[in-house]
Amino acid sequence: MRNKIVAGNWKMNKLYSEAVELVDEITIQLKDDPKADDIIKIIIPAFPYIRKVVRHSHGVKNLFTGAQNCASEESGAYTGEVSAAMIKSLEANYVIVGHSERRSYYKENHLDLKKKVNACLEQSLTPIFCVGETKEIRQSNKHYEVVAEQISESLFHLSAAEFEKLVLAYEPVWAIGTGLTATSAQAQEMHHFIRSMIEKNYGKDAAHKVSILYGGSCNAKNATELFACPDVDGGLIGGASLVPKDFITIIHSFPK
Ligand code: 13P
Repeated sequence: MRNKIVAGNWKMNKLYSEAVELVDEITIQLKDDPKADDIIKIIIPAFPYIRKVVRHSHGVKNLFTGAQNCASEESGAYTGEVSAAMIKSLEANYVIVGHSERRSYYKENHLDLKKKVNACLEQSLTPIFCVGETKEIRQSNKHYEVVAEQISESLFHLSAAEFEKLVLAYEPVWAIGTGLTATSAQAQEMHHFIRSMIEKNYGKDAAHKVSILYGGSCNAKNATELFACPDVDGGLIGGASLVPKDFITIIHSFPK
């Protein structure tokens, strides 16, 4: 059985006191929520809040902390960067790699992302590797091609044992922060395509072990329909993860 995962990517939101309040509200509700126990929950705040979130997550079953990015290099003179080892030393467990906002605003390319994935695995951090196409790419019907390239260029150097440690996330760029969600059919189609790619390259076992999350305007209203798709193993949530009630509703949205 694959892990069911709901990850909240807080992006560059919340001042410190607000972040403390938010993680407090989420953890108080989760502590008293046996229905959520078996779901892997990941809170992914801005770097300066990671340690605080890690502390708050103690005592909540299957609640983990992640970082939104990491350096591709190991250590040294890289002003402003945060290494995978530093993230690990804060006791976080996950790192988002290849988010479309990093790919487009910070020009991160396939090779940068490959190095970041390697850096994470070296530190036993789980990369949440994001892929997805822009609106123009979908309109020109090249979305499968683009997603296939994102995966093969940055991930297919890994061994099967390494690949099985990843979490993937399909986040169509046109759905991120726009209120335009992929339909469950569009999500399922792409998730199935990604899983078949993994199967072709690494075999059935690996393909069935890797959780593939959907992200892009996933919210308390549409999560049930998305999570009902056989190849959708959870969500990478932006805006709705900043609202405790909605985040918890999304965690409860898996089929019984
Ligand atoms: P939204 O849920 O705000 O669309 O953001 C999705 C996302 O980018 C998560 O990483």
